[in-house]
Amino acid sequence: MASASVIPSATKVLVVDDEPGLRQMLGILLRRHGYDVIAVAGYVAAREAIEQAPQPFPLVLTDLAMPDGSGLDVLADAKRRAPATEVIVITAHSTVENAVEAVRAGAYDFVRKPFETSELVTLVGKALEKHEIVREIRRLRAQIAALPEVVGRSPAMRAVMDLVARIAPTRTTVLITGESGTGKERIARAIHESSERRAAPFLVVNCGALPEALMESELFGHEKGAFTGASSRHLGLFREADGGTLLLDEVGELPLALQVKLLRVLQERRVRPVGATQEVPVDVRVLAATNRDVAAAVAAGTLRQDLYYRLNVIQIELPPLRERRDDIPALAERFMRRFAEEMGKDVVGFTPDAARALASHDYPGNVRQLENTVERAVALAGARAIGLGDLPPEVAGSVGEASASLLELPADGCDLDAVLHEVERRLLVAALDRSGGVRTAAARLLGVSFRSLRYRLGKHSLAEVVDEDASDDPPSA
Ligand SMILES: Nc1ncnc2c1ncn2[C@@H]1O[C@H](COP(=O)(O)OP(=O)(O)OP(=O)(O)O)[C@@H](O)[C@H]1O
Ligand SMILES: [Mg+2]
Repeated sequence: MASASVIPSATKVLVVDDEPGLRQMLGILLRRHGYDVIAVAGYVAAREAIEQAPQPFPLVLTDLAMPDGSGLDVLADAKRRAPATEVIVITAHSTVENAVEAVRAGAYDFVRKPFETSELVTLVGKALEKHEIVREIRRLRAQIAALPEVVGRSPAMRAVMDLVARIAPTRTTVLITGESGTGKERIARAIHESSERRAAPFLVVNCGALPEALMESELFGHEKGAFTGASSRHLGLFREADGGTLLLDEVGELPLALQVKLLRVLQERRVRPVGATQEVPVDVRVLAATNRDVAAAVAAGTLRQDLYYRLNVIQIELPPLRERRDDIPALAERFMRRFAEEMGKDVVGFTPDAARALASHDYPGNVRQLENTVERAVALAGARAIGLGDLPPEVAGSVGEASASLLELPADGCDLDAVLHEVERRLLVAALDRSGGVRTAAARLLGVSFRSLRYRLGKHSLAEVVDEDASDDPPSA
């Protein structure tokens, strides 16, 4: 091939018209404006071009009445291949009705023959602008849909999510570290879901789960008859995850011989199935997770240093939950709603002392332990609010342990709004507690009006934990 095109990856436009003169004119006009034009003479050729283009056309310009088919069919084919493709219909006077129908069926607009070239060029520009906006909105929607899955507004989790957003579009390997239950797999999934790979599989393999021989075929696949018992061909996780993401969990437990093979796969982007003579290309983004001290594993010789460097291009460290307590209320709330729905129970909140106990516990099992605690509590709850008695003793006993530290500035700073929010919540909870849930009394204890208290309770989703029977609303003002 000759030198690269002057306009890097110019926008492709498909022009469909049976009139050679018009086809040529459109080609010249649009190329002059920097588009990469493919011009075809009829419906059948258009269908072929639409189906076979490596990427869907952003824009199709089609005549309506052609000897071998209709522009309406071109429109339908283009939209079937990619709904984001925009279609502009060119119509003669006699087919204006069909053009209106085309717009109803999803065409961007139509132009009547004869047309001003400037009018057409403007329309093409606008249609492509819409195409871009639609694609951008889709991309953002998908990102938004994926991201709220990770709950956490603490400074530490915000920093993690910022990093996730920045690295998601790349194919960098990422090493995710953190104690058991801190959400490593959840973050790996968030990376996959916010990347262009989201439509392809996200697979997880526990590297310590299988003996070496089985592990190799699990990862890289095997040919039929590769070893005794290999009665059929096995694709292997790398090829199953092709186009997607593979999370290597507890990567430090991979047998050393396989670590060498894994490193090769990461570098060459090709796998050799057990018993195969040929390597097969794979396109997989690899993420690794571990709750061990990886540097120590390297020092001890159980994790190869070269593999460690290859995996650890970016490291995401998830702090234990006890070091980001700001996240506890939102996590507990999220889990409570989910389990209440799953179990079909009318549980809507936590009593103040239960909320306080949850926020004060140390959680050696981190987010997973909180999740299990809330699941159990929802199952046990006999009222609309989860009470202290619904929590396991080790959590219920945490009330009042750690609360003073809110007024100290942590070494890595804090999120002032989140801290003030938490201070307000705790004082509200304490006042409700002391007043036995009587809101007028709680308002008095806090020196605020009843309205103000009610507003604040709503803000903290505490309104529901107030016992409505003890209702004390003053006669409405
Ligand atoms: N930030 C979060 N938001 C919502 N759910 C979370 C979050 N972090 C963790 N979870 C939930 O907590 C549980 C444990 O998380 P995950 O499995 O990702 O932890 P892990 O670090 O991979 O644990 P392990 O080291 O034991 O493999 C999961 O059910 C997960 O959905
Ligand atoms: Mg895990």
